[in-house]
Amino acid sequence: MCMRKTTTGLLALLTLAWATSLQAADPQAGKARSALCAACHGADGNSVNPVWPKLAGQHPRYLEKQLRDFRSGKRKNSNMSPMAAPLSDEDIANLAAWFSLQKRSPGAADPALVEQGARIYRGGIPERGVPACTGCHSPTGAGNPEAGYPALSGQHAEYTRIQLEAFRKEERSNDPAGIMRTIASTLKDREIRALASYVSGLH
Ligand code: HEC
Ligand code: HEC
Repeated sequence: MCMRKTTTGLLALLTLAWATSLQAADPQAGKARSALCAACHGADGNSVNPVWPKLAGQHPRYLEKQLRDFRSGKRKNSNMSPMAAPLSDEDIANLAAWFSLQKRSPGAADPALVEQGARIYRGGIPERGVPACTGCHSPTGAGNPEAGYPALSGQHAEYTRIQLEAFRKEERSNDPAGIMRTIASTLKDREIRALASYVSGLH
């Protein structure tokens, strides 16, 4: 009896803590703040222009980190940096919550690149020390929400290619411990195109 009471009390407390942590981010406030973002990223986070990333369905932790990095200058882009500059921490949490809850539209891989893309994505390039992408981005390209590893599936191949090239040139350098810069450093142009096309068709 007493044990049951304690368990019920504990559950109520946990539920309260969970509800409070959810309240920290307000997706509806994020939606209200997202009018400007929609011009490039789409009202539901599915952009039309392939150099503007889809944000729909991306993990909130990853989205928040990118927005903070654009705001601080750790990640730079002439379109995006001025957009992040005026955002408060609360705006960032709300916007990330809003876009993460939207459904990502599917992409499609170029059949001519699938075989090479799949081989590297699943097996890496052992002779050059390139690890399989699956270990962090998951076999389906869903990423890892807790670790903050981004989802790649369905993303525009053009955007993914630009990011892998930017990591390779170290123009994008906000990856923790240089993990993506190291991985991209030995990738050849065609390998990058194959990977970018392959993950766009993953689901
Ligand atoms: C003028 C077009 C434009 C507008 C408006 C814009 N963005 Fe972006 N955004 C971009 C571009 C371009 C990139 C990719 C930058 C790069 O290549 O590094 C980007 C990247 C991002 C990323 C990183 C995505 C990823 O997968 O790493 C996030 C998050 C983001 N934008 C959120 C927002 C939010 C939130 C707003 C509104 C406050 C916004 N953007 C407004 C063009 C725009
Ligand atoms: C050890 C873990 C790890 C492995 C293995 C890994 N990644 Fe990543 N990747 C990350 C992390 C972490 C980030 C986010 C960096 C940040 O916070 O800005 C990332 C970001 C990316 C991005 C940018 C996504 C966006 O929306 O801008 C792309 C593209 C990407 N990885 C592709 C790959 C590919 C292709 C491979 C395999 C060749 C790979 N990654 C292997 C950890 C990994």
